Amino acid sequence: MFQQTCIAPVNIAVIKYWGKRDEELILPINDSLSMTLSTDQMCAKTTASASSNFKENVMWLNGEKVAFDENPRSARCLKEIKRIASAKGQPKFPLNLKLHICSENNFPTAAGLASSAAGYACLVYTLACLYGVEDEELTQIARQGSGSACRSLDGGFVHWKKGDNPNGSDSLAHQVISPSSWSNMRVLILVVNDSKKKTSSTKGMRLCVETSELINHRAEKIVPQRIENITKAIKTKNFTDFAEITMKDSNQFHAIALDTFPPCIYMNDVSHSIAEFVHRYNELAGETKVAYTFDAGPNACLYLEEENVAGVVAGLKLAFPNDNAGNVEYVKGIPINGQSYEAY
Ligand code: ADP
Ligand code: DP6
Ligand code: CO
Repeated sequence: MFQQTCIAPVNIAVIKYWGKRDEELILPINDSLSMTLSTDQMCAKTTASASSNFKENVMWLNGEKVAFDENPRSARCLKEIKRIASAKGQPKFPLNLKLHICSENNFPTAAGLASSAAGYACLVYTLACLYGVEDEELTQIARQGSGSACRSLDGGFVHWKKGDNPNGSDSLAHQVISPSSWSNMRVLILVVNDSKKKTSSTKGMRLCVETSELINHRAEKIVPQRIENITKAIKTKNFTDFAEITMKDSNQFHAIALDTFPPCIYMNDVSHSIAEFVHRYNELAGETKVAYTFDAGPNACLYLEEENVAGVVAGLKLAFPNDNAGNVEYVKGIPINGQSYEAY
């Protein structure tokens, strides 16, 4: 038996990927940019085993059996890894051995906290290690599992270029700065609701591309400038500019989700109260100390610098008392440099 276990982190986009130009190859209509969180608190853990005793490829996700060969995304990731292994020659074991794969997320799955990003980055990296091809360009393969997954293979801030080539060869993710370049950057995750979202990201963005009249304007006229501006803010560690672009992009993404017909609504009343809290906090502080961003779900991700964590958490405790049913459940601070906070 040949076996490999890996862990992979989530990443939270500050310029959102939303919309595909090719559903099969998972090619996006716009660039996106995110920060990869440390694996201390939120990650996927995947074990893959190959054995001549296995009769078929089988996968378990969080303890439940899920389709593997019948899932075109996982099947394609495996096919691509095997293609590289075969091209390199001398594979570690016969490529026709069947696999058993077991994956667990230690955070809510399909709740808008980037489980597909950590999950497919982990699957691809685990398979790459199992077949001995981990040094190859893997972002292109992870992208074909879940678009956002290509950004979880690197640390720090990561830019996924949409690329122009119809075969996807230039739709790759690259690091903008390493975690140590902005080492006091932190993320607080506010879990408002940990249940599975009604409309998956895949379905939500497909409906949005099909029905929204605003989405192309965003992809063509707005995102390119935002990517340029936020890259500059990140490289110069300008938190004020970084925060403004991040919050505006989150708001715009949810606006185009609402422009889908029928509308896709991911944020709830508590999410909106958190956004309001952030604006009020910054206003009272007289400067921008914290930024919110929401993925396709109601849960909030707050970006802030280490020295502001205590103040923001104290404000959150006052605004969202823990015993208040339906409010923020818990808050976790996720640093990118390996230290960890437990708030609440
Ligand atoms: P999220 O906002 O959590 O990324 P998505 O709707 O994008 O939600 O994707 C959720 C799907 O991602 C799950 O239903 C599952 O198919 C896949 N997924 C999540 N975690 C893993 C994992 N650890 N390994 C493989 N696939 C995963
Ligand atoms: C709102 O990568 O989950 O989180 O490519 O269909 O698997 P698929 O979608 P996915 O979409 C992520 C959408 C987002 C924004 C982002 O992470 O950039
Ligand atoms: Co996802």
